[in-house]
Amino acid sequence: MKNFIALVSILFSTSVFSIDIAPYQEGQRLNNKQASELQQRYKDREQQPWKEITSSGAIKTHKNAELIQYGIQVLDKTAETIGPLSKDKSKRYSGNALNCSSCHLKGPSQLPGTMHDALPFTNVSNDYPQFRSRGMSVITAAARVNGCMTRSMGDGKILPLDSVEMKSILAYYDWLRRRY
Ligand code: HEC
Repeated sequence: MKNFIALVSILFSTSVFSIDIAPYQEGQRLNNKQASELQQRYKDREQQPWKEITSSGAIKTHKNAELIQYGIQVLDKTAETIGPLSKDKSKRYSGNALNCSSCHLKGPSQLPGTMHDALPFTNVSNDYPQFRSRGMSVITAAARVNGCMTRSMGDGKILPLDSVEMKSILAYYDWLRRRY
C-alpha cells in the first residue's frame, strides 16, 4: 500500500524543480507584494546543475517519442518545417531562413539547444513559468518561444498554443528537463 501511494504521488507530482505559481495565472500582472512572494518561492527552489547531454538515444523509448522528435525537427529545421521553405503554406510561421538551432546551438548530442554558453534549452521547463519584473507579469515557456518567433525569426507569426508545433517544442523541453 505504501509503495502504491508513493507511486501515485510520483505520477501526479510535477517536477520537483518547477515552481507552483498558484494562485497566479500565466501572463497575469502582479502587484509588488505578489511579485516578491513569487520571487521568494523561486529563490527557495533547488538549483539545477549543468549536465552534458551526450546522446539522444533515450528519446526512442519515451512515451511521447514522436512528439519530441517533431519538436527537435521544428527547432533544428525551422525554415523548412515552419518557415518560408515549408511545403505546407499554412505552416509558414517564421519569416526568415534561420533555424532555432542557428542561435540555440547543438551540443555533442546534436540536439538543438544543448550547447553550454550558447543559449541552451536544457533548463527551460525548470525555469518557466517565471516572474519578469520587466512587465510585472508571469511569463511562460510558450511565451518565450513566441518572443523568439516574433523577434528573431524575421517578423514571424506566433505559434498557437494548441498547435502541434508548440506542443512538440514544449514536449522536447520537458524531455530535456527529465535528464536531471
Ligand atoms: C537570432 C538568434 C535566435 C534565434 C534564431 C532564436 N532565438 Fe531564442 N533566444 C535568443 C536569445 C538571444 C535569447 C535570450 C534572450 C534573453 O536572454 O532574454 C533567446 C531565448 C529563448 C528562450 C528562453 C530561454 C531561457 O532559458 O530563458 C526560448 C524558449 C527560445 N529562445 C526559443 C526559441 C525558439 C523556439 C526559436 C525558433 C523558433 C528561437 N528561440 C530562435 C536568440 C534566438
